[in-house]
Amino acid sequence: MYVCLCRGVTDSHIRQAVAAGARSMRELRMELGVCSNCGRCGQHAREILTEATATISATAVHIELPPVRSGTFATGAA
Ligand code: FES
Repeated sequence: MYVCLCRGVTDSHIRQAVAAGARSMRELRMELGVCSNCGRCGQHAREILTEATATISATAVHIELPPVRSGTFATGAA
């Protein structure tokens, strides 16, 4: 669905930008041009940004890694 008619930005574009790391309206504006002309799309774009960010946070995987000690790296060379 189109969110920003001025720039032809859809909700999918916004979700893809969030998946690629966008976390603010400023980043969406810089990346997609959303809300950079008439501004009517701002509220809807922000709602999708908030929802997409929450979805990514909820599905994030926490991986516990052991501490790195100097001199313990294997080179793989035999
Ligand atoms: S609809 Fe997005 S700037 Fe106009």
